[in-house]
Formats: sequence, structure tokens, C-alpha cells
Amino acid sequence: MCGIAGIASLEDISERLVGSIRNLEYRGYDSCGIALVNGSKAIRVSKNIGTVDEVGAKENFSKLKGSLGIAHARWATHGKVTKANAHPHTSCGKGFSITHNGIISNYTNIKAGLLKLGHKFSSETDTEVIVHLVEEYYKKLKSVEQAFVSALRDLDGSFAIALVTKHEPGRIYCARFESPLLIGLGDDANYIGSDFSAFIQHTKNAVFLEDGEYSIVTHDSHCIKRISTGETVSRPVQELKWDPEMAQKGGFPHYMLKEIYEQPQIVQNALDIDRKLILGFAKIALEKSRLYITGVGTTFYVAQLGQYYFSQYAGLTPMVISSDEFRFLAQVDKNCAVLALSQSGETYDTLTALRHAKSMKATTAAIVNVMGSSMARMVDHLILQQSGPEICVISTKAALSQMIILARVVLEVGVMNKRITLKQAKTFEKEIGQLPGAIEKILNEKSGFIHSIAKTHSKIRHWLFLGRGRYYPIARESALKMKEVAYVHAEGMPSGFLKHGTIALIDDRLNSVIFTPPEEEKQLYELTLSSAEEIKARGGYLLGITFKSRSKEPLPFTDQIVLPEAPPFIAPFLEMVVAQLLSYFTATTLKRNIDRPRSLAKSVTVA
Ligand code: F6R
Repeated sequence: MCGIAGIASLEDISERLVGSIRNLEYRGYDSCGIALVNGSKAIRVSKNIGTVDEVGAKENFSKLKGSLGIAHARWATHGKVTKANAHPHTSCGKGFSITHNGIISNYTNIKAGLLKLGHKFSSETDTEVIVHLVEEYYKKLKSVEQAFVSALRDLDGSFAIALVTKHEPGRIYCARFESPLLIGLGDDANYIGSDFSAFIQHTKNAVFLEDGEYSIVTHDSHCIKRISTGETVSRPVQELKWDPEMAQKGGFPHYMLKEIYEQPQIVQNALDIDRKLILGFAKIALEKSRLYITGVGTTFYVAQLGQYYFSQYAGLTPMVISSDEFRFLAQVDKNCAVLALSQSGETYDTLTALRHAKSMKATTAAIVNVMGSSMARMVDHLILQQSGPEICVISTKAALSQMIILARVVLEVGVMNKRITLKQAKTFEKEIGQLPGAIEKILNEKSGFIHSIAKTHSKIRHWLFLGRGRYYPIARESALKMKEVAYVHAEGMPSGFLKHGTIALIDDRLNSVIFTPPEEEKQLYELTLSSAEEIKARGGYLLGITFKSRSKEPLPFTDQIVLPEAPPFIAPFLEMVVAQLLSYFTATTLKRNIDRPRSLAKSVTVA
């Protein structure tokens, strides 16, 4: 939610800075801006509403020059989407400019004090108080560093901040508390960014700021200090494992489609994760008397799917709680293990759940995609997904990867728990190994048909996604995909639940999709079909996602997408890929903003 970038150099960096903020646009794209320092005379700020390219055209970004600067891509939280509310914000005397990600919870009090002192505000944002506060302290302290730190100490809430000043034109001041910020160390310049994509085209060497730290970055140096004490912290440089090309579209029209197509490789990457890491968590899960799995949005549905796998194959039923509700429901103590799932590793709700678990002395673990993210650094046991950057706001490949990793954990626990034999575990693992080929087949052979179904039904405003057992979380996840990318109302529910009320909605304005298991799961299959019959009997449109072996029977579907036969252990993953494509093609037919759907941001770092 919002992206910050900054570059300190001795040469003109304006074009590079625009590139950085363009790469961060997936974090927020309702407005953006740049502040450039060129010597000690003035800071030049350009900002407006719109995407980086729109604002660049309106504000003539190409004419800007400067050897040091900061930039911001905004996703509005405090204050409407207006030019005035766009970042950077500048102090009354124009000596300081700031960008900020996060929320300053005590900004109204600070603002009241500053107004009394004569400060004039030009925006409705919480951010603007910070820059006036720094200016106010600077008047008294005559030191930028002391003014910056004093202002930081007055702030409550969360922040990643970058500040430039005409008083010290060669330095970027930055700080973090509960909002990500890292420093990139290049040959001729140093960088800051909310994540690696701000600078990976220029350097892979990064240093991560921790909560409660600030840094002063110049073209050839950086230091890290604690906000509370001013004491210097030494932090090793880490090499980022991702390549710049991984964040490019690679010929696909959208990142969403590219990321759906990357899934065969992503499954393989998840299978390649060191077994020791998987075993390590499996042991924790078994040792502790209670296991919680938490996540939110898609990762909540991944956790729910994990719950079914744990129950069916490992004889364990973990508690699964959406992370935004975690504090209000979980009874956590030192006998618990809490596993968080998060692509970004920065989601506020999930971080808060983990912090709560830590404060109650529970053992914490996380499956996270982004190296160096807050969650990656705070948990006792970390499994990094190795899914590569997921740029589309909608999560696809990262979710599938989490499912595979969880399935691997389940197999280890199942063996330790004597619910399955080692031989069975190996067979299931082999079946996961068939997934890349099976997904590829679906992508190559079924996309056209799924596209035509999506086109035919693109005017339908209500969809119901139904599944039983392990297909129920898949149904919920699929409904979420439809809502967020196509802006079409969708609900996911257990198909057995349908007859308890929702069936009243079946008519020609509502379409249903039903996920059917393969032949071997006889009981589940028959129960699923009985729900399908209920829809058919009421004349509702029903799309069945089914497997080859059953496709010859007279089935109660209006249309069916018949997949090649697959073992039950991996079948739900395959059906999910079909639903991803259905949402994607519905959204493209409706001309939606695929990679950046309205009102959504890639990492939701606010409460
Ligand atoms: C769905 C989606 C969101 C995220 C959720 C958690 O496509 O993108 O529902 O899954 O905000 O985000 P992470 O995984 O970054 O914690």
C-alpha cells in the first residue's frame, strides 16, 4: 500500500527515479509524485493524480533534473485522491519534502499543535504533519538529523518515511516502523525502496531497515541508527535472489496471465524447497498442543485448504482464523504454534496476528514469498516460497505455491503422526510432481474454451462457486478472484450448504460453478453431484469442472470443463487454475484493469 523510492547520486537520476516509482506502482496507483534536489537552492516537487505515465505527461517529468530525489506512488488512506493529497509533501519554508507509507494515528493532535505555531497545511493527509514537524524542530535544533529523529519520536502509528532537504542536498533521510523500507547499494548511486523492485534493475545488494530504525543515505554511504537511542546498528548486506527480468511481463498482455502461466515452474520451486525447512515446521506443528494457521483474503483460503489436507492426511485439525480476526478469537499461549501465510510478508492484519502470537509466547512460523519482509524477519521458523515476484495485485502463483508447501508439511506430519505411511507420503509427493505437466496441459488445451465461456457469460452479475471438502476453500478462493478482478459479485460456499438458504437465489441471473472431485473420491463425488442436481432442477446455469473419467456420464451441468484425469491429492489445485482463468477472461472481456483492479493494493499495510 503505497510505494516509496529514492536515489542518491552525483549524476542526474530523474529518469531512473521515474522508472523506480513505475516499478512500485502496483503498490498504489491513484496518484504519484517526485521531489528532486539540485544543489541547495530549492526542492522541485511534481505530483498529480493518475498513474506514473499519466502524471509524467501532465507534469513533464522528462524535463526534471536532479542528482538526488524521492518519489511516491499513492493508494489513498487519509484524504481523497487529489493533487494536493499526493506525495511528496513540503514544509512551509519549502526546505523539506517528504513521502510516507503507513498511518500516523496521532496526526490530529500534532496538527493542532502545529497550526497554533502558524504552520499552513495544503493537504488532508496525515503525512503532511511529519514534514512540518521536522521543520519546526529544525528551527530550534539547527540539525537536520536531530530534527528528523525528534519528529519521528513524536509519531504514533506506522511509517516508512523518506525525506529530502535543501539544507543537506546530498542526503536522503529515511526511517521505518511497521512499514517496509530497504536500502539498495549500487556502484555509482544508493537507493531506497518499499521493496526490491524500486532498484533491482540497478543493484541486487540490499540492506533491510528494521522497525524503529532510521538511515542517512548518500551516493556512496549509508548508516543505520536506532530512533529511540541514536545508537548505530551494523547490518550485513544481503544479495537479492530475484532478477529484474522476473518482474517484466515477458510477452503476456498482463502480469496476471503471466503469473498464472508461471505456475508449473512455481510448483517445481515449491517442491525444491529444502526438506529440512519443511520438516522443521512439521515438528513444531506436532510438538505444540495447538496449531493455528492464519492469513487474510486469498491466504486465508489457502490456510483453510491446508486445514482440510491436515485433517484428511495427517489427522490434525488446525484452527484457521482470518488474521484480521485473530486477536479476537485465538487463545494463544506458549503451547501453541502459529503459522502465518503471506505473499508480501507485510500485510498489516497478518503481522498483527503474529505480533499477538509472539507477545503470548507462542512459537511463530511463516510461509512468505518476499525475502527480507517484516514477517520473514520476525518469525521463529521461516519458509521462503521462491515464487519470484508477484506483480499483479491479484494473487495466483503465490497462493498455489503456499498450497504446495502446506501439502508437503502435511505429508511430513502425516508420517510422523502415523496417519500415512512413508510409502504413501512418497506417492503423494510424486503426484505433486505431476502437477507442473498437468497445469501446462490445462493452460495449453483449455484456455480457449474457458475464454469462450467467460465471453458468453460476461453480462452475468452474480456467480456462485460451490465445492465440498477440499473443494470448498477452492470455491471461496475462486469467488474472491471473480470479485476482485472482474468486479462481479461472487460467493463461494460448500455445495451442501446451498440447500440451506442460498438455493432461493437460483434463477437466470445467477450462474453457478461446481468443482467436482475425481472418480476415486466416490462419496464426495456423489454428494457434489446431488447439489448439482438441485441447481439443474431449478433451471440454473451450472458450469461443472470435472475429470475425464466421469465426462461420459450424463451429468447435470449446462457446460463442463473436462480435465485430464488426476489423482485426488492434486485435483483441487488443477481446478483452481481453471477458475483463475475464468475470472481472468471475464475481466478482460469486461475491460477491467487486470493488474491493478480498482481500490485494491498489493500489500495492505493498514488496519
Ligand atoms: C487476493 C489478494 C489478497 C491478498 C491478501 C493477503 O488475490 O491478493 O486477498 O491475498 O491481502 O496478502 P499477503 O499474501 O501479501 O499477506
